[in-house]
Amino acid sequence: MEGGFPAGFFDRVDEGDDAAFYAPPRFVTHIDEDAIAAVGDLYEELGVRGDVLDLMSSWVSHFRTPPARLRVLGMNAAELDANPMAAERIVHDLNADPRIPLPDECVDDVVCCVSVDYLTQPVAVFRDVARVLRPGGRLVCTFSNRIFPTKAIRGWLYASEEDRPRIVAEYVRRSGVFEEPKAALRTPPGHRGDPLYAVWATRS
Ligand SMILES: C[S@@+](CC[C@H](N)C(=O)[O-])C[C@H]1O[C@@H](n2cnc3c(N)ncnc32)[C@H](O)[C@@H]1O
Repeated sequence: MEGGFPAGFFDRVDEGDDAAFYAPPRFVTHIDEDAIAAVGDLYEELGVRGDVLDLMSSWVSHFRTPPARLRVLGMNAAELDANPMAAERIVHDLNADPRIPLPDECVDDVVCCVSVDYLTQPVAVFRDVARVLRPGGRLVCTFSNRIFPTKAIRGWLYASEEDRPRIVAEYVRRSGVFEEPKAALRTPPGHRGDPLYAVWATRS
């Protein structure tokens, strides 16, 4: 068990190889237009525009303006190849190996959109995110309530929507390498479509 979470928290219904699950490309959007706009708005507001790593990425990265240099890391090569903003594409399974195959201090910011619920060792991954971030760099994690239920961790499936930002903030704290995280619901309260939550933190 990682980082002091309860036994079974990181179990999944499908404990099979992630490479098999993500082998077929999915050229879909996983959240609706308003939620995608909320992701882009947050990136604009925070000024995520330099040398950026999109962790657990696919064919779309939701920036309103492409960052100066975007690296994308995910499971499906065809999806990453189709990402029009990407300058570098990395196929890597973070559950098999939480170490990001990049050198120390090589990016300004790391983003992770609608994917944190699939990480079985999130604290180790967040610790390694800090390693690849330059001083003052940020981790910006966004998520909604839509899920591949067989691949999401049990702790996420059983948590309420309100608890999920607390879970991600706890991952950040337990990694021990970031300042106190900020968390917010970024779609308006009572919004009828997909909600968009965000947790972000600066490397300490
Ligand atoms: C719901 S999709 C989100 C894709 C994209 N971030 C977006 O906003 O549309 C989940 C993504 O997580 C990635 N992913 C899932 N498990 C992973 C793992 N073990 N290691 C690395 N990436 C993973 C998949 O490649 C997939 O693209």
